[in-house]
Amino acid sequence: MEKKLARRRRLVLVPAPAQGHINPMMQLAKALHLKENLPVSDLKNLGPGRFLIKLAKECYVSFKELLGQLLVNEEIACVIYDEFMYFVEAAVEEFKLRNVILSTTSATAFVCRFVMCKLYAKDGLAQLKEEELVPELYPIRYKDLPSSVFASVECSVELFKNTCYKGTASSVIINTVRCLEISSFEWLQRELDIPVYPIGPLHMAVSAPRTSLLEENESCIEWLNKQKPSSVIYISLGSFTMMETKEVLEMASGLDSSNQHFLWVIRPGSVSGSEISEEELLKKMVTTDRGYIVKWAPQKQVLAHSAVRAFWSHCGWNSTLESLGEGVPMICRPFTTDQKGNARYLECVWKVGIQVEGKLERSAVEKAVKRLMVDEEGEEMKRRALSLKEKLKDSVLAQGSSHNSLDDFIKTL
Ligand code: UDX
Repeated sequence: MEKKLARRRRLVLVPAPAQGHINPMMQLAKALHLKENLPVSDLKNLGPGRFLIKLAKECYVSFKELLGQLLVNEEIACVIYDEFMYFVEAAVEEFKLRNVILSTTSATAFVCRFVMCKLYAKDGLAQLKEEELVPELYPIRYKDLPSSVFASVECSVELFKNTCYKGTASSVIINTVRCLEISSFEWLQRELDIPVYPIGPLHMAVSAPRTSLLEENESCIEWLNKQKPSSVIYISLGSFTMMETKEVLEMASGLDSSNQHFLWVIRPGSVSGSEISEEELLKKMVTTDRGYIVKWAPQKQVLAHSAVRAFWSHCGWNSTLESLGEGVPMICRPFTTDQKGNARYLECVWKVGIQVEGKLERSAVEKAVKRLMVDEEGEEMKRRALSLKEKLKDSVLAQGSSHNSLDDFIKTL
């Protein structure tokens, strides 16, 4: 009897070429692979992500060719692409393939991108009063909308229009949790009018392979092992954020006068306006043994360490979820785009963060660190953070909201 060979079905996942986008996409790949037993697609690092619009134009043709080649021998069940890799939608549309958007930022960030495009189309953004609240988006102010320090408003709006375009996508999966941002989730669901599945935090749902683009310095864990429980503030500004030399100096001085122990990640090339290298600069500044500095840390391990009490962060969405997932309250110093909205939610909605706004001065650093590490206010934030941690843990367990959402999504494949 002739046995018919089963054709392998593939999922194609397309991450944006940046650390904060690759991590959740790899985690999703693992989650789907575990449940569906599909081979994890080859994921390719497409290079630096600063020129997303250009990238989209250039990748469209080669991606379409690649799909065409794959389709000769394979059945493609679905293409899941990062919202910023929107060129994928146009390419798969021609092959009539099922496609799904993965949003690696928060639901609120997605909503904010929509709103920013609408406001821009109506009267432009120039006349809006920065401090005022955006109607129906409490607590987001106009200044918290995801404008970028790396691009003009026109460029951001062009990009956002594309990322918000659902095209032929059959659904959107988001690395968030229903209970964290229910109103944004519902707004999005109404606006998009296709199923939206909040399935995060993905890093808590599965232990995905390590995806770090930079080498993690494990020595900081040994240093943390020597510290007292709940005594260290961890400082990291993600993979993009830049600091001026004078800000770094104010920060170091504020940390010094706060008398707290700290673990600080300073990426090579992340300090601008410095005549000397970061390493030399830091040797000069940090003379105390209360501080430890690395170029890149195993962040999830650091946040899970019992010595870590608080996180000074730029509030990238992954850092936010990783901190919430470990019950670590935050000092929020957003730098650009969605980080501003995340910081607002941390401070005003979840009430587990303190935002430091305006010029970074040593006194402000000292004050914020003490509020979180020493004061009763910080204790309350810690308690709230721990309670949120439990909610997030529950969401990815059997019958949890994100667990169910992932199952619902898988049923559609
Ligand atoms: C980018 C955007 O800047 C951010 O606003 C958006 O939400 C996601 O994409 P990034 O700035 O790198 O991300 O920040 P974040 O989202 O926090 O992601 C950083 C990732 O790098 C996290 O998963 C974090 O665990 C990891 N990391 C960071 C390390 O592994 N080691 C470090 O030392 C610092």
